Amino acid sequence: MSKDIVFSGVQPTGEIHLGNYLGAIKQFLNFQNECDSIFCIVDQHAITIFQDPNELKENVLSVLAIFLASGLDPKKCIIFNQASVREHSVLSWYLSCTARVGWLNRMTQFKDKAGKNRDNASLGLYAYPVLMAADILLYHADKVPVGDDQKQHLELTRDIAHKFNADYRHEYFKLPDPIINKDAPRIMSLRDANNKMSKSDVSKYSRILLTDSNDEISTKISKAKSDSLKMPSSSDELSDRPEINNLITIYSSISNIDKDSVINLFSGKEISFFKSELKDLVISLVEPIASSTNEIKSDISYLKTTLEDGAMRATERARKTIDEVNKLIGFSID
Ligand code: TYM
Repeated sequence: MSKDIVFSGVQPTGEIHLGNYLGAIKQFLNFQNECDSIFCIVDQHAITIFQDPNELKENVLSVLAIFLASGLDPKKCIIFNQASVREHSVLSWYLSCTARVGWLNRMTQFKDKAGKNRDNASLGLYAYPVLMAADILLYHADKVPVGDDQKQHLELTRDIAHKFNADYRHEYFKLPDPIINKDAPRIMSLRDANNKMSKSDVSKYSRILLTDSNDEISTKISKAKSDSLKMPSSSDELSDRPEINNLITIYSSISNIDKDSVINLFSGKEISFFKSELKDLVISLVEPIASSTNEIKSDISYLKTTLEDGAMRATERARKTIDEVNKLIGFSID
């Protein structure tokens, strides 16, 4: 039996944080062993908001270095940057003729990112979920490991695939399933547990980066918003304590100990004690990734070869899809 196909992407904007790791990259590590996995650094998504060209180049290599330092292995999976496989743009155009404007109008992430001044947002930012559908459908992915914030985009991808199949009377595209890490669906900001941990938050204390030093991690966890109570003794108490809930989620997800057991472990203890244990745990995860990222980043030729090799393997598969879709649409005369 052939293996399930897995596809996911990460934007090379800002620096990769613990939310990206626990929500997405940690899942990638398991999938590369079990499935036919493809991981993409989505630089074409990044330019939906203007990026300085030199920074963009640098950020693509940084994300690649973090992928490799986290344990992704180019021998077990395909890793490439989106712009080097032009079929993504081609399929995106085709699918933008299938997607309905009404569907895109419902996308909450566009509303959040565009803010009040929607007329000034790029058309690309609005059409972004169609490019994301193209990324996934180009490789016939069965599974898409993502954080909870991408769930609506996956639903749209399924709607687009379904309508394309119906329009062209052919069950061509598979309907992909989002795979959301149930232990860390959405890691929240350390400064405000009502917002997700995000690359674009103005406060650097809101997120832990995979390249942070041990001192930076300690400071960020010490400063993490909490409350003046003791640690909870049951999960019922968590609904009124979103900050503590978030810190326990982080502890649970890194340690692979379920949340109820984490609650039992720290029940009635001081929050400062819990924070100090959490610091050690986060450092034990981040320190090796940060130091290995630095080392890998200095080997530019290795990084370039890895991307070129990944792009070659991805292109081969993407071309086949575009050839088939061209036939379905009526673009190839044979
Ligand atoms: P991006 O670059 O914003 O985030 C990369 C991955 O990290 C997850 N994530 C989180 N998970 C848990 N808690 C958080 N606070 C958190 N913040 C981010 C995201 O859900 C994502 O899985 N549109 C995508 C990139 C993309 C893509 C794709 C993903 C483009 N094409 C095709 C899957 C398939 C994005 O902007 O992710």
